[in-house]
Amino acid sequence: MGDEAVTSAPVTPEDGAAGESGLLYGIVNEIISSPLNLVLVGVITILLYKIIRSRQQPTTLPEPEPELPRLRRDFTVSELKAYDGTQPDGRLLVAVNGTVYDVTKGKRFYGPGGPYSAFGGRDASRGLATFKVTSSSEDQYDDLSDLNASEMETVREWEQQFKEKYIVVGKLLKPGEQPTNYSDEVEQGAADGAGEQPRT
Ligand code: HEM
Ligand SMILES: *[C@@H]1O[C@H](CO)[C@@H](O)[C@H](O)[C@H]1NC(C)=O
Ligand SMILES: *[C@@H]1O[C@H](CO)[C@@H](O)[C@H](O)[C@H]1NC(C)=O
Ligand SMILES: *[C@@H]1O[C@H](CO)[C@@H](O)[C@H](O)[C@H]1NC(C)=O
Repeated sequence: MGDEAVTSAPVTPEDGAAGESGLLYGIVNEIISSPLNLVLVGVITILLYKIIRSRQQPTTLPEPEPELPRLRRDFTVSELKAYDGTQPDGRLLVAVNGTVYDVTKGKRFYGPGGPYSAFGGRDASRGLATFKVTSSSEDQYDDLSDLNASEMETVREWEQQFKEKYIVVGKLLKPGEQPTNYSDEVEQGAADGAGEQPRT
């Protein structure tokens, strides 16, 4: 009944309606008879819609990237090379003074196209020591024995930074060195996330 009144009101105003529907008709007629009122009704409708919508979805934060399962193993120099961020899982590892770190969360630095992508999947020690973003010693273990005292100190400082920021995966193996079997290790940081499982 009310709908009927709305649709027909501008063309043929009927005054036969009585009681409640008459009152409703009066209000509706009053609103639609003036362009200004129509505009105001429109504005109010839009504002109400926005308020309701903002209450329903208060903060839609972008989904955090799912963390990869924790990796725990040792690597030879050539095994490490695969982890330069070009694999489907995007895992990135960097070695500093014999320790391998998972730097996947720093992929804007070490990933493909990043400023330090030369360190991805590599032993970065010498580059860090000399402040050169180059991956030296392609496939050979670098024992760093020729670094001078201040270069050694620089490596130590970088190592400290990596330790604070990234998770240790294992050792970088010297030629002939056997990998450690970590499978008996008590799982660390289990409270950090549900997705964290040691991989063997
Ligand atoms: C013009 C020269 C350089 C500029 C302006 C520069 C700038 C930066 C900036 C802005 C960051 C980011 C810090 C952050 O957001 O946490 C960074 C990080 C870093 N830079 Fe440089 N950098 C330069 C040269 C170098 C060189 C020569 C090396 C090679 C040793 C280097 C190695 C690194 C590393 C390893 C990180 C740490 C990334 C991480 O947190 O994992 N940078 N640099
Ligand atoms: C160590 O080597 C750097 C070059 O990487 C050089 O600039 C510096 O003078 C050397 N320091 C010492 C104490 O020999
Ligand atoms: C690298 O690590 C070894 C122990 O594994 C340590 O003796 C040496 O001083 C470290 N070198 C640098 C440059 O930090
Ligand atoms: C590591 O040790 C466990 C038992 O402690 C064994 O089941 C597993 O096969 C070993 N893995 C390797 C790679 O040797």
